[in-house]
Amino acid sequence: MKITILTLFPEMFAPLKESIIGRAVKEGKIELNIVNIRDYTEDKHLKCDDYPFGGGAGMVMMPQPIGSAIEAVDPEHRARRIYLSPKGRVFRQQMVFEFLEYEHLVLLCGHYEGVDQRVLDLFIDEEVSIGDYVLTGGELPAMVIADSVSRYVDGVLSAGSLVDESFSENLLEYPQYTRPVEYRGLTVPEVLRSGNHGKIDAWRREQALAVTKKCRPDLLKGE
Ligand code: ADE
Repeated sequence: MKITILTLFPEMFAPLKESIIGRAVKEGKIELNIVNIRDYTEDKHLKCDDYPFGGGAGMVMMPQPIGSAIEAVDPEHRARRIYLSPKGRVFRQQMVFEFLEYEHLVLLCGHYEGVDQRVLDLFIDEEVSIGDYVLTGGELPAMVIADSVSRYVDGVLSAGSLVDESFSENLLEYPQYTRPVEYRGLTVPEVLRSGNHGKIDAWRREQALAVTKKCRPDLLKGE
């Protein structure tokens, strides 16, 4: 899986150098390509944004640097090209599996008041939002998508880690405990220390159902 991120702020992606994703990149399991849109501007002052036609607050990202960057990273339009935007389809676990079908994802991050509409009309396959709130740019959403997709790339996580997790089967995850057995008067449930795997599985399923009913009943109704 190759993930290309187009941004005016490449330094914002330092967190992807850490932990599980950082290791997967180092080991060559994921190819992560952070591209500075400014490297593609034809403006002699390296300008990438300008005032909106029609007036209004803020600046709009100009089409030329973005168009040239996209054509450079995906010349034959083989990638799935996604623009992060609050107007997009709301990101859910099911979409992770959709995105995994592509060998290459291009994630375009807007900033300021967004990008010129012609970029979307000419170069983008779909807009994706990570939720109903507005952020200062698409950089955090791009990291969310890169992280959630990368975990499913072969060899990034151990196979067992993906079996019981939240949202598989529309259930949230059961509670987890580690040592010590007692902490500030709270004890690890007896069943988890019983060694009886049948009983442990049944308890976890019951707990997953209860947590889902309490925190996200909409998931049980398949909404
Ligand atoms: N850009 C700004 N807010 C966003 C959101 N909620 N999702 C995706 N991209 C965004």
